[in-house]
Amino acid sequence: MTEKNAILKVEGHDDISLPIYTPTMGQDVIDVASLTGKGLFTFDPGFTSTASCESKITYIDGEKGQLLHRGYSIEELANKSDYLEVCYLLLFGELPTAEQKESFVSTVKNHTMVHEQLQFFYRGFRRDAHPMAVMCGVVGALSAFYHDSTDIKNPMHREVTAYRLIAKMPTIAAMCYKYSAGQPFMYPRNDLSYSENFLHMMFGTPCEESKISPVLAKAMDRIFILHADHEQNASTSTVRLAGSSGANPFACIAAGISALWGPAHGGANEAVLNMLDQIGDVSNIDAYIAKAKDKNDPFKLMGFGHRVYKNYDPRASVMRESCHEVLNELGIHDPQLELAMKLEEIALSDPYFKEKKLFPNVDFYSGIILKAMGIPTSMFTVIFALSRTVGWIAHWNEMISNPYKIGRPRQLYTGYDERKFTPVNERK
Ligand code: CMC
Repeated sequence: MTEKNAILKVEGHDDISLPIYTPTMGQDVIDVASLTGKGLFTFDPGFTSTASCESKITYIDGEKGQLLHRGYSIEELANKSDYLEVCYLLLFGELPTAEQKESFVSTVKNHTMVHEQLQFFYRGFRRDAHPMAVMCGVVGALSAFYHDSTDIKNPMHREVTAYRLIAKMPTIAAMCYKYSAGQPFMYPRNDLSYSENFLHMMFGTPCEESKISPVLAKAMDRIFILHADHEQNASTSTVRLAGSSGANPFACIAAGISALWGPAHGGANEAVLNMLDQIGDVSNIDAYIAKAKDKNDPFKLMGFGHRVYKNYDPRASVMRESCHEVLNELGIHDPQLELAMKLEEIALSDPYFKEKKLFPNVDFYSGIILKAMGIPTSMFTVIFALSRTVGWIAHWNEMISNPYKIGRPRQLYTGYDERKFTPVNERK
């Protein structure tokens, strides 16, 4: 990082010199940390212009539609790698050698089972509870199982935490589904690959051997890769913020899951399918496009737009391809896919969407693939959370391994000045 300076002129203050950092890739960053000592803060709602940390994990160029993990493009990773290899890359910074990969995969497989006691947490939830609510609770509860044994200052403990989370999330996610379906929980099978094992725990029953389609396992693995990390998004920033207080990492991940749940973030994949249901037919698209453009109507085209990508979301291109592959392979003719493609075509040629640079994002197509696999809509965001866990834990680990401060944003206060307390009987 080379250093330059910016000079800030503020009335009533001497000129303030602020260092400018030049990153390996991307825009220069002005370091405003010294402003607080000079009686000033910066104001940046939604943190659109604020780098909250230094990171070496993921790089996004929103204008170019580029996403790199540790320097490797998401397209290459999605086409040439597999999810556990991407997990290794995100956690340790390099692609593993064959030997390292074997050892990593074997370690993850040896952590897939959850404590038998954990199943009783599920039983406290209503069967019709949203699986994201159940997942938040159960992952938070993991902190009770691994609290005294987790010293966050110990790199080995942090590594074991990462293994535990990556290994147990598919088990926990599948248990969320099985619980809602009223079916027995399935134990993990360590002879299967990561995605095959997930499908086995989702769709298998103790009555017969699971038959796992290699096409579906491959597509699932790709979905995991495409959601694995996305730099400082709302949920990752939440995990970092929670972690900055020194909290238990399992509790921090539960905080990330909560942040992911909303429809503006990970909940969009579920919202896309609900929206397609609502639109119903190609003949209604124009009316819904008009609603999305109407400032007085809260309706938004779900699966469109992104805080960072102001060009095509590169994950959406891979997902679109995958979607066609899966539907062809399964011989599924899905009218919702046709509706989605027509919607995409109409929106992309509409001046409103063009001017605002609103393109389909990763979640526009992921829901259609998941639906084709027989995964219920309410499980979509759970699968996003499962995939993103590695990104969260890689960022948490990066933060804890380096000097860091507790996250504590400031505010522009526009409330009352100090005023006198009025006793209740004198208030009007
Ligand atoms: N449909 C219609 N108008 C939109 C949409 C949309 N999907 N997205 C943004 N706009 C408009 C918005 O109304 C605003 O208009 P104006 O300038 O007139 O006020 C303008 O475009 C800029 O939008 P913004 O909300 O200020 O942009 P943002 O960067 O704060 O929000 C977003 C990004 C993803 C929250 C938003 O585009 C959105 O809500 N999209 C739908 C939800 C969605 O698909 N989310 C998944 C994101 S990808 C998965 C992930 O990584 O989490």
